[in-house]
Order: sequence, then C-alpha cells, then structure tokens
Amino acid sequence: MADVVLGIETSCDETSAAVLVGERRRPELAGLVILSQDVHRVFGGVVPELASRAHLTALPAVVDRALAEAGIGWSAVDAVAVTQGPGLVGALLVGVVFAKALAYAGDRELIGVHHMEGHLFAPLVEDPDLAPPFVALLVSGGHTLLLDVPAWGRYRLLGATRDDAAGEAFDKVATLLGLPYPGGPAIERLAAQGDPTRFSFPRPMRDEGFEFSFSGLKTAVLRVVRASDDLERDRPHLARAFQDAVLDVLVTKLERAVRATGHRTAVLGGGVACSRALAGLAAGRLSDGGLARVAVASPRLNADNAAMIARAGWYRLGLGERSDWTLDARADLPLPGLEPAPTTHGAARS
Ligand code: KG4
Ligand code: ZN
Repeated sequence: MADVVLGIETSCDETSAAVLVGERRRPELAGLVILSQDVHRVFGGVVPELASRAHLTALPAVVDRALAEAGIGWSAVDAVAVTQGPGLVGALLVGVVFAKALAYAGDRELIGVHHMEGHLFAPLVEDPDLAPPFVALLVSGGHTLLLDVPAWGRYRLLGATRDDAAGEAFDKVATLLGLPYPGGPAIERLAAQGDPTRFSFPRPMRDEGFEFSFSGLKTAVLRVVRASDDLERDRPHLARAFQDAVLDVLVTKLERAVRATGHRTAVLGGGVACSRALAGLAAGRLSDGGLARVAVASPRLNADNAAMIARAGWYRLGLGERSDWTLDARADLPLPGLEPAPTTHGAARS
C-alpha cells in the first residue's frame, strides 16, 4: 500500500493538488493547493474552454507547490489519484493526462477517482474516525445526491434532483439577483442581512420522499424579482427567503433519510456544504435533538479540492484497485458502487 498519494483535481474551475502521507488507515494531509480560476467571474459562469486552458497553464506549478508544502519531492510519491469525472471533459482531460504522464514516467500507481466520491470522503480527511453506516447529502453545482452509505464504497441512492442541482439553483438565483458567480457564497453573505419574514418561497417536494426539484423555486424567485419596485431594497430579503427554502428542503429530506435508515450519523458534502447556514440548520435539527451526529468538512475541503480526491483514491488503492494507461476523462462517469433508488419510499413517507 502506498503511503504517499498525490491528488489532482481539475473537473471544473479549481486547479488543485494535494499530498496525503501516512499509515494505511490514517493518512494526513501534508500539502494542499487550490487555485480558483477568477477568469470566469466576468462571464457569470464557467467557460469550459477557458477552464481547460487555465488548468493547463497552472497545473504543473500547483503540483510543485503542493509537494513543496508537504516537504517532499516527486520521488517520494507512491501513487497519483486524479478526478476522472464527472465534470467538464476538457478540464478533466488536463488532470487525467497530466496524472497519467507523471505516473507513467515515474512508474507509479495511478487511480482514477469519481468527483462525488471525493466529496463524500472529504470529512474523513479531518475526521479519521468517521465511519459508515451513515446518510450522506452531497450537494454541489452539478449534483444533489441523498445516499444511504452502509459501508465505504457502497452507495444506495435514496434520491437525487429531478432538474437543477442545489448549487446550480444558488448560482441561477444569484444571477437573477444581480450577484456575482459563484452564487452560493454571495447569497449566503447577503441573506445574513435579510429579514426572513419579508418573503416566502415554496418548498418543492419537501413533504414527501427523497427526490429534489429546484427549478420551480428559481421561477418563483424570478416572478418576485420582476414584480419588485425596488430590487436594491428587496435583495437581501429575497436571498434570505430563497436560502431558507432550499436549506429547509435539503435538511428535511436529510432528516427523513436519517429516520428511515436509523443511522446515527449524517454527512454533508459538496460545495453547498460550505454554507454555514446549511451546517447550522442540519446541526440544529439533527444533532441538537440527539437524532444524529452531523459530519461536515471545513469549507476548504467541501469546495472542489484535491485532498478529497487523494483521500478517496487512497481508499480505492487500499482495496487493490488501480487504473491503467487507458484511463480517460469521462464527463458522465457513474458513481462506483451506486445501487439504484428503490421504486417506492413508502416506509419513509411523513
Ligand atoms: O462542489 P463544488 O465546489 O463544485 C462542483 O462540483 O459543482 O460546488 C459548487 C457549488 C456552486 O453552485 C456554489 O454556488 C455552491 O457550491 N456553494 C454554495 C456556497 N458555497 C458554494 N451554495 C450555498 N452556500 C454557500 N455558502
Ligand atoms: Zn465538486
């Protein structure tokens, strides 16, 4: 088993490298560099072509910096873990080709990692005692997944979104409100000054099952924005009402999943889990009543980063898995170990 793993993440607009060092069961984060591509801000969203180019320019220096932070040279690295998908295919390709070249030239092990499995492993970097069974809510710009995790590597899908991902809803509503990309942090900042009683938005599909739908909520915000005679005045209150609606839906379903499975731990992951408001609401509804412990990584590890990729790769390498030189970027990579959602959630209705 390798004891130094270099992680590489380039699936979207963060160029990141990380180094994990240590014992088989308890690797430590020795270096982490996350370079956010600011270029997309002026376009109000990620421009795939620009993302690929920026990864290509920055990745060698980002890897060097992560190794330097860890105080090791390339020769000490045993394996390279890289995000294989899902994500922007051109962006992924930069990381995959770079990782393959490094591993091939140095005769090191290589492992391709699923980006969302990376998000799931993020809390483990800081909390090595975290262990299944648990329920996981993974919420990012591209995915909204509610999973029953009986064991690492086994993922029973409880529910996903029917339309927009939770982070995507934040980004789209931020655009409606005239806020910069990425929308989530901008909405959270503004919402902190908002009056929660000024507006109220629907909670789509909240009271039944495990699936999500956020596109109607976005339309509801659009209607109120259009009707507003003073958007400047209403903006913080709209941000607050929208955020409250999304978080209420997310946490209600997380709580339902905890009750349905009987698990005593709930994991939050993905970029939306950077939200202090989300972590706070989940802790209030789940931990305070003694229902479940809420495990959430610090924001640096919930946003896209290579530490989580290295950690998930570390786990897969430990199972004896390796990728070969045919490893290719896949925009639609399925989550390994994913078991489909059961057709009914009868037992879990409330
Ligand atoms: O996981 P991530 O960094 O990238 C993807 O894999 O998509 O997630 C990015 C998403 C964006 O939609 C962003 O608006 C959202 O996470 N996000 C937040 C917050 N910080 C980031 N959403 C709500 N509140 C936040 N504080
Ligand atoms: Zn992500």
